[in-house]
Amino acid sequence: MLSGREIVLIISGGIAAYKSLDLIRRLKERGARVIPIMTAGAQEFVTPLAVGALSAEKVFTSLFDREAEHDVGHIRLARDHDLVLIAPATANLLAKMAHGIADDLATAVLLATDKPVLAAPAMNPKMWQDPATLRNVETLEERGIRFVGPASGEMAEKGEAGIGRMSEPLEIAAAASAVLKDVAVREGRLPLGGKHVLITSGPTHEPIDPVRYIANRSSGKQGHALAAAACDAGARVTLVSGPVDLPDPDNVEIVRVESASEMLSAVENRLPADIAIMAAAVADWRVASEGAQKIKKDGSGKPPTLELVENPDILATIGHHEILRPKLLIGFAAETQNLVDNARSKLERKNADWIIANDVSPETGIMGGDANTVRLVSRSGVEDWPEMDKYDVAREIIARAAAELNG
Ligand code: C5P
Repeated sequence: MLSGREIVLIISGGIAAYKSLDLIRRLKERGARVIPIMTAGAQEFVTPLAVGALSAEKVFTSLFDREAEHDVGHIRLARDHDLVLIAPATANLLAKMAHGIADDLATAVLLATDKPVLAAPAMNPKMWQDPATLRNVETLEERGIRFVGPASGEMAEKGEAGIGRMSEPLEIAAAASAVLKDVAVREGRLPLGGKHVLITSGPTHEPIDPVRYIANRSSGKQGHALAAAACDAGARVTLVSGPVDLPDPDNVEIVRVESASEMLSAVENRLPADIAIMAAAVADWRVASEGAQKIKKDGSGKPPTLELVENPDILATIGHHEILRPKLLIGFAAETQNLVDNARSKLERKNADWIIANDVSPETGIMGGDANTVRLVSRSGVEDWPEMDKYDVAREIIARAAAELNG
């Protein structure tokens, strides 16, 4: 959601300004352009040189900048970009905003902007809880200004703790992304705006006893990439994930599960969905009766016998739901042989609309890797896709799904 977007970042004068340097990096990593404005106070904490070096942009500091103002620079700064982000937003800056004061470049831009504004407050807990600040925040919220944080924790001042810390850069980046998405959905610019997409991801762990389990090598990368791509396409996304070692995608509801049975109930509880994509590598079998205690060697030299029973098939279960079957139901088929035949029979057996089939023989490096080579198997035929990064595969699947749904 941040890729290709232009964000005016206002840095005001608080100790949390040091975190703005990392925030610039995070926003840029996600593909955004960051145009910084620093108040005089901010420059007491971090230098325009550091901010300029990290953003690779001119840093605006003065309302009376002859070079920038020959074409009414503050109005252009206020209008020509996608979002105005204030991090940190001090009590003083919020007070000025609430009262329409425009005595420097930052406040003039804030008064003149017609773009969404997101503020990440940072101040001493007493200042945050002061009735004047609370009132100012209320006023700004009524005017549509959005807030992320402040968080609670230790303050820079020794022995002070409470609510007032600026949110962490990753949270601020996620909040900026959510604001941009809301605006784009409202303006009808995203193909899955207003739709619910339900995705399963990762492996399942089937317990043997309290310390052991049966698992598989799924990393969850493809499922998590699908969740991020669906979110970027404007959908409300629920991601039901088995145990994975991946960061949570931003602005997605995550339901963490361990076993196939837990995954099935989580999925059923989250229906209805417009699109469901079952990308999890669900274990086919579980142990018939989980040991209540750790199974011990009994000294006889004979290993224990584990009786296995079949797990519920989540895709097939929701594929055959009479009322709650999603309009578009997509499964995955990871195979090591007879790829297309197996995918076709799964399509029928599980009543799915598409199966995304991939060859996961060890030499392909797909399991756990960053790239994927897939075929889209539907009732109208088989399409071979070239090798792509898993996020690009996800984006293509989501674009095709949106076209199918909106068709
Ligand atoms: O394991 P299998 O190759 O049959 O998986 C095909 C599809 O079915 C995948 O989309 C997988 O997520 C789904 N599946 C499931 N529940 C199972 C087994 C597979 O939802 N118990």
